[in-house]
Amino acid sequence: MEKILLEYRNLINKELEKNIAPEKPEILFEAMRYSVFAGGKRARPLFMMAVCDSLGGNIKQCLPFAAAIEMIHTYSLIHDDLPAMDNDDYRRGKLTNHKVYGEAMAILAGDALLNRAFEIIAEECCNNLNIGNMYAFRYLTVAAGACGMIGGQAADILSEGQDIDMREILFIHKKKTSALFCAALNMGAALAGAGIDKIKRITALGEKIGLAFQIRDDILDITSTQEILGKPVNSDMRNKKNTYVSLFGMEKTNGDYKILSAQIYSEIKNIFGDNNILYYLVSKILDRDK
Ligand code: IPE
Ligand code: IPE
Ligand code: MG
Ligand code: MG
Ligand code: MG
Repeated sequence: MEKILLEYRNLINKELEKNIAPEKPEILFEAMRYSVFAGGKRARPLFMMAVCDSLGGNIKQCLPFAAAIEMIHTYSLIHDDLPAMDNDDYRRGKLTNHKVYGEAMAILAGDALLNRAFEIIAEECCNNLNIGNMYAFRYLTVAAGACGMIGGQAADILSEGQDIDMREILFIHKKKTSALFCAALNMGAALAGAGIDKIKRITALGEKIGLAFQIRDDILDITSTQEILGKPVNSDMRNKKNTYVSLFGMEKTNGDYKILSAQIYSEIKNIFGDNNILYYLVSKILDRDK
């Protein structure tokens, strides 16, 4: 299974390389490439390919979409680290984009990655116009926007220092993080030709995986180290963020995380069976320490 993930990761990196070849203005492309190739986990494109594979689809059809979702995720990190947002100095084990290239170029590199994602998809849809590609396109646009990740990032910023409840923290996490995970899973399913009933069940699964992913991130922000994480710890407390841990404490968070993890495994078993690459990938992500 590990070999399969390695193969996916190589394919993703090759596709990214192909689509962000250096051009003019050199500094802009350098800034885009700096963050994309700084060594992220590639969790979202891996999930897309694992779902597609587990449903009997051809993972090669995922590649333009896999590169696109990783570009959108990377842009969201570049902007998330800016002084106007979380004001962090390290990401993926290196100085953040704005620390190296300045704020103006970091904003533009983020914008350029977001736009390039849709350039790649437009090209793919022109070359291979089919229903799976169109649905994958649609899932990504909605997930990246005001009703998805950007909306969640706005709610996250607006909630800094505020008293919020369970409903609101779930809203923030589902938008800022689950939206892209749902999109990744749904895109993999659409590209494998899955029907609407299956997609509905996969959407519910994606919401849970994204929520678990963000809760784990909130825990690691407190319990880990910068060396392991590749980004600063205690960033959330410094920014007076509302997180699952800040609201409910570590004990309840760990307990809820266990329950959520069990639900995720059982949903994957029900939809896909248990001896598949998706099951393996989710176990790696749920147990991750970075
Ligand atoms: C970080 O995402 C932002 C969150 C949604 C928690 P990742 O943990 O996937 O970051 P990389 O891509 O591996 O750097
Ligand atoms: C960010 O959440 C989620 C995004 C959409 C970028 P965080 O602000 O907790 O992510 P990290 O901890 O900086 O990676
Ligand atoms: Mg943030
Ligand atoms: Mg942050
Ligand atoms: Mg965090």
